[in-house]
Amino acid sequence: MPMKVIKSALETSTYVANMRASGQKIGFVPTLGGLHKGHQLLMQRAREENDVVVISIFLNPMQFRKKQFIEYPSDFEQDKTIARKTDVDLIFHPSIDEMFPFVKRIDDFFRFQNDEFRMRDNKRFVVEPKDKNGIDNLIRVPSTLVEQLDGKLHPWCFDGSATIVYKLFQILQPNRAYFGEKDIQQLAILWKMAETYFPSLKVVGVPALREADGLAFSSRNALLSDEQRQIALNVHSALRHGERLIRRGEFEAFLVLSAIKEIIKVQSFVNIDYIDIVDKKSLKPVSQISGGIILYVAFFINGIRLIDTLIVD
Ligand code: PAF
Repeated sequence: MPMKVIKSALETSTYVANMRASGQKIGFVPTLGGLHKGHQLLMQRAREENDVVVISIFLNPMQFRKKQFIEYPSDFEQDKTIARKTDVDLIFHPSIDEMFPFVKRIDDFFRFQNDEFRMRDNKRFVVEPKDKNGIDNLIRVPSTLVEQLDGKLHPWCFDGSATIVYKLFQILQPNRAYFGEKDIQQLAILWKMAETYFPSLKVVGVPALREADGLAFSSRNALLSDEQRQIALNVHSALRHGERLIRRGEFEAFLVLSAIKEIIKVQSFVNIDYIDIVDKKSLKPVSQISGGIILYVAFFINGIRLIDTLIVD
């Protein structure tokens, strides 16, 4: 069937509901646009596991500072070509008004970010019917999930992604939704959000795309010289070493962490910004390893900040 592009939420919701009523399974990949190989991997996985593949292209102002929002590389024609090649059935491409009908000016989204260190419920998601900037159905992510890893630096960003994904799930009611494991904190938050509000929807994490030499795919890789790239790869090997220790039965997190740090320390030009072993679902640092965990490291190579993660189930 030829790929469809729909801008209206109501039309999209009716179209997808008809597909579901005829017994078809809906796989959904939300995106901000600027589609690349990482998105293609998600779409291919959705294609393999569902009858209908829907993607959304929506540059969500809640997730960006104003400058980043303005500079985000969007090319809808190119995105359409990539989606068509990847066998997508429907692109939902709403306007900002369609998704946030009560927000008057674009600057109101950036004003909402000033509230970023507000009090949150410790454990529960809270839906704010309408905040003072006109954002309706604003999802506040519990502090236990936000105040971990990188979330400490920009907690509002996760309220932004949880809010838009909540709205998209309401419109589309898909059977499965696909997200990259590369943004591991976002994934953990959306898992929990879906479990809370959309219990019959399955959130699927797709392993991070790696380049041929094993480096995690990132637009920042282009900034690395050959030597710096090798250093980043050595950091990755250090995580792999940690993984091997765990698979061989080491369950003391501090021993695994010190073995990883030892390997990273001997690399010149690397500064570790943050390193930890956290529980895959709660994102809390663990002292004893059991069940699914994430080896997480954020590091600088000559001022370029990179993140690498390994999930060990
Ligand atoms: O990961 C992203 O691309 C975005 O955060 C998402 C999930 C599409 C929500 O805007």
